[in-house]
Parts: sequence; structure tokens; C-alpha cells
Amino acid sequence: MKAAVLNAAPGQLEIEDIQIDSPGPREVLIETKAAGLCHSDLHFMEALYPFPLPAVLGHESAGVVAEVGSDVHYVKPGDHVITCLSAFCGTCEQCISGHLSRCERKAIELVRQPGQPSRLSRNGEDVNTFLHLSSFAEQMLVHEHALVKIQPDMPLDKAALIGCGVTTGLGAVFRTARVEPGEVMAVIGCGGIGLSAIQGGRIAGANKVIAVDTNPSKLELAQTLGATHVVNAADGDPVEQIRELTDGLGVHHSFEAVGMKETAEQAFRMLRSGGQATVIGMIPVGTKVELHGVDFLSEKTMTGSNMGSNQFRTDMPRFVDMYLDGRLMLDEMVSKHIDIEQINDGFAEMKAGTVARSVITFD
Ligand SMILES: NC(=O)c1ccc[n+]([C@@H]2O[C@H](COP(=O)([O-])OP(=O)(O)OC[C@H]3O[C@@H](n4cnc5c(N)ncnc54)[C@H](O)[C@@H]3O)[C@@H](O)[C@H]2O)c1
Ligand SMILES: [Zn+2]
Ligand SMILES: [Zn+2]
Repeated sequence: MKAAVLNAAPGQLEIEDIQIDSPGPREVLIETKAAGLCHSDLHFMEALYPFPLPAVLGHESAGVVAEVGSDVHYVKPGDHVITCLSAFCGTCEQCISGHLSRCERKAIELVRQPGQPSRLSRNGEDVNTFLHLSSFAEQMLVHEHALVKIQPDMPLDKAALIGCGVTTGLGAVFRTARVEPGEVMAVIGCGGIGLSAIQGGRIAGANKVIAVDTNPSKLELAQTLGATHVVNAADGDPVEQIRELTDGLGVHHSFEAVGMKETAEQAFRMLRSGGQATVIGMIPVGTKVELHGVDFLSEKTMTGSNMGSNQFRTDMPRFVDMYLDGRLMLDEMVSKHIDIEQINDGFAEMKAGTVARSVITFD
């Protein structure tokens, strides 16, 4: 099958013909129908985060079940599914206390064991599966705990976005930060993740949803999706601009959706007393974030959010319903449909900031 392989980092993806194994007892073979390009893939291509190579990247996808292992009863061939990298073991302390996205045993229990053949291979050589999924390929072989069944009338290109960006952004607002109706929030970075957090703020009933970006076209899209105010960070310190919009007080909640030291520090500085900053962006490994110690006296909190603290088998079908009911706007977030051959151009456009989300479709 055709797949986009990362052979060296930093590096580009190479479209290659690779092999995929048959499902083991608890595995599911999926025909990939759509896969979104997320900035997290780019962090690995740029070697800002390490990963064993060669690997097939991609982690934001939806498809149709082709074949199931002997012990899989949750799905059957023909079912439509969204995949999620937050695969859960279901038995560790995090899982059984409801924090499935923090599962501590997924890297041990939900992967093929030593001595078993690799899920993916290239003429006899093992190819690594990325984040339990490897979505940039015509097929995926995943553990049954890395997918959720959805209704068949959900368009799969929009469903793919729910696989990472939408769940991360909405989840950061609903589950990590628990934004309350009437609160005031800001989102720094209006790519696929930040735009989803902005929609989360609108749906949660925040009184002000302030979008921050350096790109005017992203700020325009942010307004379409629910931002009540916009701040161009290229026009001067965004923290000062946000203070002006909030009677000098700052926000109850800020969300960092870029992945930089500077913007993470801004997220903390723009809080009002008792406020909480939620860092979603992947700050490069080794980078330290500096906070002004005196700010802790005003009871400010800084936390992170991994995949929106999701319980994805509950959350994702709800997000599908929100889309089908017209409350979650996903058509506007898909800037482009591309073929897998155009994947490196897609990441170049992401870097240039000209797209919200590009989605690879497979037919
Ligand atoms: N925590 C998680 O579970 C999780 C999940 C998915 C993605 N992420 C991370 O979230 C981040 C955003 O991902 P994305 O796919 O939306 O990226 P993206 O590249 O599509 O969007 C980033 C946006 O940030 C803007 N930006 C850049 N510099 C800025 C600055 N100084 N101030 C304000 N805005 C600025 C860009 O113009 C762009 O609109 C990445 O770091 C990604 O790895 C984290
Ligand atoms: Zn992602
Ligand atoms: Zn677990």
C-alpha cells in the first residue's frame, strides 16, 4: 500500500509502497478515507520531538473497517470509525479513574510484543507505527482501543479532524479548563487546534473569546468560528492588547495553541487573578518556560492539556452530533483536500500559515 514514510529527521516524507500485516486478535484493519495534517506531525519531521525511524506519520484520521481480529466485537467490517492516538488499556490507575488520555500502559500493552511481526514493514524491514495509528497510508492496523465507531452519515473528511485537532481544542476548553458560561478567554494561535478551542469557547458560552494570531487571514476565520475579539500579535504585545479588551483585568482562561516558549509565557501573563493558562502547543523538547514568581500570589495556574483530556469514545460521537446539528463548524476548517503525493507541499503551506487544515483523501 501507499504510505508517507519519514526516513530521516529533520526531513521530508517519502511516498513509498509498504506492507501491512493482518489483524491480530484485538486489532482492526481500517481503509483510511481521510487524514488531516496536524502541526504535531511537523514537529517530528523537524526533529523537535524524537521518534524511532523509519515511521509512517499521521494521527488525525477516519476510515472504514476492513477486517477485525478474532476477539474484536466492538466493530465489524463496513463500520465507520474515527481513530485516536489516546489509545487506552482500560486497566491502569489512570484509565479506571476516568483519565483515559493519560493511560500509562498503552505503550506496553497496546503494541505488538517483542518477537511478533511488525504491523508495518518494507520488504522485510520493520517500519514503526506512529502514535498507535500511522494515518498517512491507504490502510491502518490499530488496536481496537484506538478507534471509536461513528454514524455513517458523518462525512469522513470532517470526521478526520475530530481525530485530533477538534477533540484537542474542544476538550481543552470543556474537559481540561472547564470554561464556565460568562467567563472571558483567549486563544493564542488560530490553526486547527486554536480554531477548535475558539469554537469550544463559543459552545461553552464564554462571554468573550479573544483570538490571537500573527496572520490576519487566521483572525478573520477565527471570527467566523466564534471569536468575539481579535488581537494581531504582530501589532505589539498581545498581553497589553488583551488587558485593554478586559478592563485591565486579563482573562479567566487562556489557551496556548502554538507551541512556543514566548506564547506560553504570554498565556500566563494575560491571566486575571485566579485564572488558568492551558498549554496545548508542543513546546520543543528541552525548552524551558519562565514565569514571574510573584504571579503565584494571585493564585494563577498553568497546566497542560494532552489531546483535550479526552474520553474519546464519549467525546467524539458528541462532536459528530454537534457538527450534524450545525453547532460545530468543520466545513470552514478544511481549507484544502489533497492527495497523499502533495503531503510535503501541505506541510510547507502549514508552515507558511496559508491554511487552517489540509486533509488528505483516499479513494
Ligand atoms: N497537546 C496536544 O494534545 C496537541 C494535539 C495536537 C496538536 N498540538 C500542538 O498544538 C499546536 C498547534 O497545532 P496546529 O495544528 O493548530 O498548528 P498550525 O500550524 O496549524 O497553527 C499554529 C498557528 O499559530 C500561529 N502563530 C505562530 N506564531 C504565533 C505567535 N507568535 N503568536 C500568535 N500566533 C502565532 C500561526 O499563524 C498559526 O495560525 C502545535 O504545537 C501542535 O503540535 C498539541
Ligand atoms: Zn494532532
Ligand atoms: Zn491505561
